[in-house]
Amino acid sequence: MRITPSILNTDFARLGEEIARVPSADAIHIDVMDNHFVPNLTIGLPVVESLRAATGKPLDVHLMIEAPERWAPGYAEAGAESVTFHIEAAQAPIRLARQLRGLGARAGLAFNPATPVSAITPLLSEIDTVLVLSVEPGFGAQTFLDLVLPKVAEIRRLIAADDLDIWVQMDGGVSVETIERCVEAGADTFVAGSAVFRADDPDQMVRRLRALAEGARK
Ligand code: DX5
Ligand code: ZN
Repeated sequence: MRITPSILNTDFARLGEEIARVPSADAIHIDVMDNHFVPNLTIGLPVVESLRAATGKPLDVHLMIEAPERWAPGYAEAGAESVTFHIEAAQAPIRLARQLRGLGARAGLAFNPATPVSAITPLLSEIDTVLVLSVEPGFGAQTFLDLVLPKVAEIRRLIAADDLDIWVQMDGGVSVETIERCVEAGADTFVAGSAVFRADDPDQMVRRLRALAEGARK
């Protein structure tokens, strides 16, 4: 059970300090948005390069951008351990996943709440992480969408049937209220933004979420 706090709703003037508040995190989740794929604009490659120099934590980059083929490899080259792009935006997802793996990163594939599992099924053998959006992407602190849980269960069945080694990551609205049902559906890796960084003690919240997830594991 892995907890990957999102820095989306932190103080962007102090990102290094914000990351230092969650030493128990398994990785730091960085939401890159281009104001085209989603109606929000956040940070890009220069900031990720600076964060790479500022922390030894694994960096988990979530690209909510058009044309990921153009930009994703740069994040792997910058030293991100994991680079996740959206199936809805990709023109050549297999080539891109192979390129990311060739650069030494985990290749992650994300899909939106309204996108069916069948959109990613043919690609499962090419990737290391499936990111299931449990909110419409673009903003933190939205309400968790329970309608994605059957999709998580379906992915977990496909992974088990083919004996694949893939992490199933939930992103959006993960909290002490929702994490256990995500685990029960089959998720093993959790982005938590507002739940962690709005807590009085963010690191304690990371450990609490992990303990809840471990407790809910079958
Ligand atoms: C949403 C982002 C998420 C977001 C999660 O587009 O992909 O990573 O930061 O924030 P919370 O946990 O507050 O829903
Ligand atoms: Zn994200």
